[in-house]
Amino acid sequence: MDQKTLVLIKPDGLKKSLTGNILTRLSESKLEIVAVKIVRVSRELASEHYKHMQDKPFFGELIKYIQGELHDRRKVMAVVYWGDDAINKVRQLAGSTNPEEAESTSIRGSYGRITTQGLYENVLHTSSDNKEAEREIKLWFNPDEVIVDLYPTKIITAEPQKKRVWA
Ligand code: CDP
Ligand code: MG
Repeated sequence: MDQKTLVLIKPDGLKKSLTGNILTRLSESKLEIVAVKIVRVSRELASEHYKHMQDKPFFGELIKYIQGELHDRRKVMAVVYWGDDAINKVRQLAGSTNPEEAESTSIRGSYGRITTQGLYENVLHTSSDNKEAEREIKLWFNPDEVIVDLYPTKIITAEPQKKRVWA
């Protein structure tokens, strides 16, 4: 089944210079990259992305982690992969959430760690199912930033807004 999935290379992945390694590993999936960007993650975006984790004791640390406050790298790389069985293929290559339980050949098994506070620094995020993938992709990307029509869109007339352009 054709699927889409969101991958985030988290700030620890960027700090450890793992971008190339992670993308190389994920390319084994033969999936197509249809969108990519570097994002400075606001508190609002972080909280919305991890809203299902709100009640966890580590929620505060998790938000700091994805915002890059634990690694002095205030950015993530967001990538949308598209193709057959995309969600499962990417999760297989990523490995288990807990890097100690992840297969040692998986991305998280190779590069992840558990902090002394017990947070799983597992170098990448991947969507867990179709519904979450849709929610996450729509949260992180505008339709114009994706080169294929993943979901239905509509044209609206927006009030004139101030925006920054190249000087
Ligand atoms: O990222 P994934 O979908 O595999 O796991 P999740 O259950 O959605 O949790 C989101 C993130 O919270 C994980 O990737 C970890 O960084 C963190 N986490 C943690 O630090 N300790 C846990 N016991 C569970 C999750
Ligand atoms: Mg998840």
